[in-house]
Amino acid sequence: MNQGNQTWSDRFESALHPAIARFNASIGFDIELIEYDITGSIAHAKMLAHTGIISKEEGQQLITGLEQIRLEHQEGRFNPGIDAEDVHFAVERRLTQLMGDVGKKLHTARSRNDQINTDIRLYLRDQIQGIRIQLREWQGVLLKHAETHIETLIPGYTHLQRAQPVSLAHHLLAYFHMAQRDWERLGEIYHRTNVSPLGSGALAGTTFPIDRHYTAAELKFGGVYANSLDGVSDRDFAIEFLCAASLIMVHLSRLSEEMILWGSQEFSFIQFQDSCSTGSSIMPQKKNPDIPELVRGKTGRVFGHLQALLTIMKGLPLAYNKDLQEDKEAIFDGVKTIQGCLEAMTILLREGIEFRTERLEAAVNEDFSNATDVADYLAAKGVPFREAYNLVGKVVKTSLAAGKLLKDLTLEEWQGLHPQFEADIYEAIAPRQVVAARNSYGGTGFEQVRSAIKSAKEQLLDTKS
Ligand code: ARG
Repeated sequence: MNQGNQTWSDRFESALHPAIARFNASIGFDIELIEYDITGSIAHAKMLAHTGIISKEEGQQLITGLEQIRLEHQEGRFNPGIDAEDVHFAVERRLTQLMGDVGKKLHTARSRNDQINTDIRLYLRDQIQGIRIQLREWQGVLLKHAETHIETLIPGYTHLQRAQPVSLAHHLLAYFHMAQRDWERLGEIYHRTNVSPLGSGALAGTTFPIDRHYTAAELKFGGVYANSLDGVSDRDFAIEFLCAASLIMVHLSRLSEEMILWGSQEFSFIQFQDSCSTGSSIMPQKKNPDIPELVRGKTGRVFGHLQALLTIMKGLPLAYNKDLQEDKEAIFDGVKTIQGCLEAMTILLREGIEFRTERLEAAVNEDFSNATDVADYLAAKGVPFREAYNLVGKVVKTSLAAGKLLKDLTLEEWQGLHPQFEADIYEAIAPRQVVAARNSYGGTGFEQVRSAIKSAKEQLLDTKS
């Protein structure tokens, strides 16, 4: 006999096996959705009263009871156990305890299937907006460093071999642009998340004269699902979110990897401040870059959640299937991981590292990363580039053999290599000039970097689109 302790009907004669009840329950994690569940239920109750499906007084009683539960939750007094199965049933059961039989009317013209999809959307759209704000802060810190370091040079790498020096600002702005795409991408996903499935019923709609546009407007959704089957079972938005989250992690993880390298003794380009690094329990000389390492490490779990959700969806027949209960932990953990990583990385970049400019300066002066510029020098004087390139290859080889850098070659030596070399070769291969000369659009030339910073600032002013 149904004692009102479980969601389903008197068709069931015996209670669930306790282990099965535990296995089946989602209350342990979907309690995260409780405020959204209550908000969704209030909109539904209003709509039921508005359409005359229940009376105005009944609607008001439901709302009063739901607000009461919200308060109990906020004050830590509402802690449903495993027997509540999920957040929806927990709220409905409490509502009936509080308000009597009218509580049993809340679920008229609704199913947990459209309810849960509504709840996740309300939750996720809030989180998306929060993450977008965090991305803006992250971009702000990147931009601030960029402004300080326009003229600081850093070796630029390909294949992790020194390639050409670049402005440190240019390097950091690359991450600004990645974050900009992340911000835009989440903005697009927000719109597809912000669509109301409420009123799709269990799968086929409902026999009651509900008003789906009314609830959608109450909940500030941008639209309503046009097909009830799709409405209850679509999780594309969650997959898109985890995909966007994965890309954010890719970007944070790449910079983390660079920071770890830069902080090593081999590079020594940055120094970690005590507030953002940890020591070793055995080796007293060490300062470890735990924060970027953790960010790099946490990347895998977000990828994992994306993979999990894709796999959950791939074989699901329409419409709702209990497999979908598995979406919650993936989404929640994806959200929390992104939030935590963005917060930590923002603090780390803002106050946890210092660029060792003297080391950077030395680094760009002590290598052959100006070799391309020697070839460009000759090419600009009419020597075909490939010929100039081959010649410079030889120059590098003989210099290496002589233990010299290009800047150490005498003018006679230069002219011995090619008659077109003149005294201005020294200026052409000085790292500052090498960087300044790359003035093509989007390049590292200081002029380009300055205008890139200007546009980046303008982009940051946009907090909406
Ligand atoms: N806890 C369920 C979930 O997370 C709610 C929907 C249950 N619907 C059902 N028909 N069993 O998906």
